[in-house]
Amino acid sequence: MKGIVLSGGSGTRLYPMTRAANKQLLPVYNKPMVYYPLTTMMMAGCRDILLVVNPADEEAYRRLFGDGSQWGLSISYVTQPKPGGIAEVFLLGKNFIGNDRVGLILGDNLFYGDSLPALAERGAKGGGAVVYAYWVSDPQAYGVVEFAENGNTPVSIVEKPKNPRSNWAVTGLYFYDADVCDVAATLPRSPRGELEISDINAHYLKAGRLMVHKLGRGYAWLDTGTPSSLLKAAQFVETVEDRQGLQIGSPEEVAWRMGYIDDGGFERLIDPIKDCEYGKYLQRLLARG
Ligand code: G1P
Repeated sequence: MKGIVLSGGSGTRLYPMTRAANKQLLPVYNKPMVYYPLTTMMMAGCRDILLVVNPADEEAYRRLFGDGSQWGLSISYVTQPKPGGIAEVFLLGKNFIGNDRVGLILGDNLFYGDSLPALAERGAKGGGAVVYAYWVSDPQAYGVVEFAENGNTPVSIVEKPKNPRSNWAVTGLYFYDADVCDVAATLPRSPRGELEISDINAHYLKAGRLMVHKLGRGYAWLDTGTPSSLLKAAQFVETVEDRQGLQIGSPEEVAWRMGYIDDGGFERLIDPIKDCEYGKYLQRLLARG
């Protein structure tokens, strides 16, 4: 399976923080924001990853990730000339996707929960489209899915509705068959000139090929798009990490635990950073085995 991490956008809601720095490179407590969705993809079993970035930020992302081999991944890059909607990634990434199933995660989405890897893996293996819904207090800000009376069959998906039919927001983690590229190529642009991910999902829904998994109350799905939600996400990470002494969203740790790198590879990553907090944390993991 292939994976795409969308790390472009103008981040205007976070201005002036995003005036010189790309949103997904801003810190969420102790790591760049993009580490959290990247590790979610890694936990879903995805090692072949395409990063969609703004032209001006490509160099910074290459500095951060290189070709991904240090984490047992293959990371490649494509630039999105101007924000044209989430679904545009399927036009930009057509060659990368080829005939494979593909996962997409938004670079500002933070997921947390014990059985998330299994749930994401199910999305990676299922057919058609697989998306996840999360109960929120402000559904107007998201793509909203309405379910039939049985509670599990999706009947509509609407992007940022004024009068939402439910509180179930569609999260920024999606899995599709390779034909998503053809679907994206035939979709009209929305009135704001973008290719909307909700239109892709509505297309699969109409074709009877959409599965929506509800994320229960034991999961956290945090969005980091405004100053306040960014701060809340950082506080959440700090609270959990401080309590457990275990970190959320560390690519080195996930690569090691998933078996993408061995002890030797893990040690080589730690060596140059062994004097900082993060390096000491990774050292403790390796010593514990
Ligand atoms: C996007 C999608 C929306 C989805 C949300 C999840 O909205 O368009 O359907 O619910 O991501 O984070 P945006 O964050 O671009 O406003």
